[in-house]
Amino acid sequence: MLKQAKIAVMVSGGGTNLQALIDAEANGIIRSGKISLVLSNKSTAYALERAARAGIKTEVVEKRMCSGNAEFEDRIMEVLDREGIDLIVLAGFMCILSERFTAKYAERIINVHPSLIPSFCGEGFYGLHVHEAALAYGVKVSGATVHFVNEIPDGGKIIMQKAVEVKEGDTPETLQRRIMEEAEWKILPLATEAVCQSIVRGESV
Ligand code: GAR
Repeated sequence: MLKQAKIAVMVSGGGTNLQALIDAEANGIIRSGKISLVLSNKSTAYALERAARAGIKTEVVEKRMCSGNAEFEDRIMEVLDREGIDLIVLAGFMCILSERFTAKYAERIINVHPSLIPSFCGEGFYGLHVHEAALAYGVKVSGATVHFVNEIPDGGKIIMQKAVEVKEGDTPETLQRRIMEEAEWKILPLATEAVCQSIVRGESV
């Protein structure tokens, strides 16, 4: 039986969610898994520095260096398989994965999304755009969702959600920050531990 699931975190940017995962492992919130790899599709992602500082192996696979999406995904899969990864955590990874990819790792990929799915999600809803759309609609509550990743963008089974109040005068930036602090950085580590536990025990979530 597995003692700890090997986790790969896939990133594209600043990596504050990655940092929350690193901190959660350090303080024992994540104990059924170990972050073994951080993979970025951008060589300039600050998340890579966070990983290096924590002594975690990093890999960069850039789409512009590949002949197309199929090769891009093949290269990522090669790395994940070489490292024997059990769980892939998308933490601000800004590419949509094809069905070929998601089917290979069914129930082994999770993603954090900065809204309460099914609101403000799917293709085109990423990063600040999500909060712009929420403010434009005028919702009074938003939040974050951690879900399994399947072939439908943001359409996989929901694992955890947390609501966050939208305040008068919020900008996309202030709302993004509050949702990160109050929701994403909390539920992503908790959901990661829950999925790792189920992998280690051989159960489904
Ligand atoms: C986070 O808010 C994450 O939920 C969002 O991008 C940000 C990445 O921040 N992801 C998506 O929008 C995916 N659809 P980080 O790099 O500081 O973790």
